[in-house]
Amino acid sequence: LNNGLARTPQMGWNSWNFFACNINETVIKETADALVSSGLADLGYIHVNIDDCWSNLLRDSKGQLVPHPETFPSGIKLLADYVHSKGLKLGIYSDAGVFTCQVRPGSLFHENDDADIFASWGVDYLKYDNCFNLGIKPIERYPPMRDALNATGRSIFYSLCEWGEDDPALWAKEVGNSWRTTDDINDTWASMTTIADLNNKWASYAGPGGWNDPDMLEVGNGGMSYEEYRAHFSIWALMKAPLLIGCDVRNMTAETFEILSNKEVIAVNQDPLGVQGRKIQANGEDDCQQVWSGPLTGDRMVVALWNRCSKPATITATWDMIGLESTVSVSVRDLWQHKDVTDNASVSFEAQVEAHDCHMYILTPQAVVSRSDV
Ligand code: DGJ
Repeated sequence: LNNGLARTPQMGWNSWNFFACNINETVIKETADALVSSGLADLGYIHVNIDDCWSNLLRDSKGQLVPHPETFPSGIKLLADYVHSKGLKLGIYSDAGVFTCQVRPGSLFHENDDADIFASWGVDYLKYDNCFNLGIKPIERYPPMRDALNATGRSIFYSLCEWGEDDPALWAKEVGNSWRTTDDINDTWASMTTIADLNNKWASYAGPGGWNDPDMLEVGNGGMSYEEYRAHFSIWALMKAPLLIGCDVRNMTAETFEILSNKEVIAVNQDPLGVQGRKIQANGEDDCQQVWSGPLTGDRMVVALWNRCSKPATITATWDMIGLESTVSVSVRDLWQHKDVTDNASVSFEAQVEAHDCHMYILTPQAVVSRSDV
């Protein structure tokens, strides 16, 4: 969407994956505090996004949305002020249907009122869900909220959560800043790998202003191993997915923090070229030895060697696969070991990768020495 936002994928936190409906204003404030004190905010995680269940069960007598009086007694405006005072942005949630998925009031046919109230509270981001949609197509239901947000005059990031209904990559670029390509993720290896493959299909449609959204991160929620979470984060970054943390950042383990705070991987995600990397090779049993790659600024390439097999494997990326000229020599930097592994690779390179782990590299072409320099 051409609203000046999402020049790179959005980064931040969302309440749903860890807290589900167990949210309140204290959790949101403490999360904002933790994003700042941990240093994650400085790395780019600036959106603090409230998901479903913030609202009261009914609209008020004037037909306006109201926050739940027990869990958000101070109101959203004061919460937004608090989050802004920390240098962060506040996101809220509604639904392009008559109810949200947890049966709070939805915004279908209330788009202008609801956009106005969100803007008046100082909201910076809207996630717009797809429950209770009366069977009306998303292409009819999502543009009215875009127009309502635009009419407020406030700059509000518009995140479509239509679960991939009607192949949004084909129509949502003019509607939202990101669109979900799949159903909900859950905190398992099977879910994460399936979603990665589904999202991969739409790679060519992503770019500055509008991104494919394979759903929020599960890193740190406990259902996957360290290697699996590292793969999850690597592939989401490479696919230019939104990096929305879904764990309790007030109580992160050192391993979780190490993954989420990897500056070199974040830089791949935020590279201004904005081209979604993709799966370019799959070998072995069930195609489990995979190479994913994509272009970055400065003629660099990102390459991930992802071992989805249950045993260690040696995975090879050839220049032919990743689209480098056969004569090019590159330096190779390992983004998880944080070191240069070679300054002179040509034709291909390979690595031994543990089961379910993912190595991630940046390949930088060596400066070509021209005749006149010799
Ligand atoms: C479905 C969405 O896909 C989830 O991300 C979450 O927002 C829930 N609804 C909330 O009810």
